[in-house]
Amino acid sequence: MKIAIIGAGNVGTALAGSFKRAGHDVIVASRDPEDAGGVATATGARVGASNWAAADEAEVVVLAIPFSSVADVAQEIATAVAGKPVVDATNRMSFGAAGPEMDTSTSNAEELAGFLPRAHVIKAFNTLLASRQVDPTSAGVQLDGFVAGDDAAAKATVLELAGSIGLHPVDVGPLSRARQLEGLAFLNIVLNVANGGKWQSGWKLVDAPEAAPLAA
Ligand SMILES: NC(=O)c1ccc[n+]([C@@H]2O[C@H](COP(=O)([O-])OP(=O)(O)OC[C@H]3O[C@@H](n4cnc5c(N)ncnc54)[C@H](OP(=O)(O)O)[C@@H]3O)[C@@H](O)[C@H]2O)c1
Repeated sequence: MKIAIIGAGNVGTALAGSFKRAGHDVIVASRDPEDAGGVATATGARVGASNWAAADEAEVVVLAIPFSSVADVAQEIATAVAGKPVVDATNRMSFGAAGPEMDTSTSNAEELAGFLPRAHVIKAFNTLLASRQVDPTSAGVQLDGFVAGDDAAAKATVLELAGSIGLHPVDVGPLSRARQLEGLAFLNIVLNVANGGKWQSGWKLVDAPEAAPLAA
């Protein structure tokens, strides 16, 4: 697959490396071209001339940026992503008097879908810490790659992408399930913070019921 990753931080680097190892053609873009260049050097990905140019060339676009940048980036890439899967890998957290908290009345992914009505927004990869995006197996256990979305074809593409990097792909249903996927990530993050974790923990749902195949 030809994949654009927008964002050249922890997640952009981790996914670029995993996608390249799986044989995909990967284009990385970020605000600072030097950051994208560093990812390209480290992973073998290519550097996009801009967020728009990377998204325009790609079949699948992955947003690996802070959610605070998502509205701007969505506006920038809107004309390049019509009809394409746009993967939201962001997480949702704010800080209140009692510490980290999360507004669960909607999700980052549903907000992104509002910004990009002509794209097929898919939630994926957010439940994996960057360390597990690099290596999705922990103590011999293949971690899950949960995928939520409303467009069946776009979701199938992202499930295939998740499987290609060594995750066990799990279709968790419509895009609104992103609220729960963002909750899983929140829980993993706060457990690592509270307990001085090593940022290696990951999710595996044992004996998950598989969705019945659609009748031909
Ligand atoms: N870290 C994890 O383990 C992890 C795991 C799962 C999900 N996530 C989520 O993934 C997202 C990225 O996390 P991260 O840890 O990779 O953050 P990070 O290391 O801070 O990297 C963020 C990247 O986003 C880029 N960026 C910001 N605004 C941009 C814009 N307008 N256009 C292009 N690029 C832009 C930044 O590049 P420039 O500064 O060059 O613009 C930077 O390279 C977050 O939403 C986070 O919640 C993180």
